Amino acid sequence: MEFIECTIDGTAVRAEPGTKVLKAAMDAGIYIPNLCYIPEAELPFGGCRLCYVEVEGRGLVTACTQEVRAGLVIHSETPQVARVRQTAFRLLLAYHHLDCRTCWKNKNCELQKIAGKVKVKLKRPSEFRALPTEWEPLDTTNPFVTYDPGRCILCGKCVWMCGEKNGESLLDFAFRGFRTRIRMSAATSISGGDTCASCGQCMEICPTGALQPPSQR
Ligand code: FES
Repeated sequence: MEFIECTIDGTAVRAEPGTKVLKAAMDAGIYIPNLCYIPEAELPFGGCRLCYVEVEGRGLVTACTQEVRAGLVIHSETPQVARVRQTAFRLLLAYHHLDCRTCWKNKNCELQKIAGKVKVKLKRPSEFRALPTEWEPLDTTNPFVTYDPGRCILCGKCVWMCGEKNGESLLDFAFRGFRTRIRMSAATSISGGDTCASCGQCMEICPTGALQPPSQR
């Protein structure tokens, strides 16, 4: 097998052709913040924008979408990376309940963990215009899973798990802008026919407390 060699944060990293920079960094024990990356997925989602890195001579790229190339010199911690990462993180907080103590994923939440890494306080940012003033209600359509739009970061992991991984397609994105949310179907799939097997894997892969057992309401 032929390997490609590049440098990440001063460490020489070898990876198979086609490997994404984020995966190569993970394999080398280098942490790059990420919330929507699924190593098993065929295509990266690229939605959270937390995995920005700086490539010498090319500028900022998302590490989950950029393939390793021979000789690339990559930095995951530069002032420019920190700035865009913090902005991306604040955008995730712009529509997010921050009453962590009442959340079933408290202390087991990826958003909480990454806040410290990107050095952003867990509070609602005030710099964005047109923040919604009301929270969308819980979706209790599915008897096995409750969805809280106010805790969802729209990483798409649950959609991937239900659709691509388990072939059920009971979850999908709906609406636009701040109203974008996950649409659930309990008995009939969006593509028709399938039913929720109550496997719980959507709740497991969710990095926050957006998908929760009904008992947590
Ligand atoms: S992990 Fe790269 S954009 Fe989310």
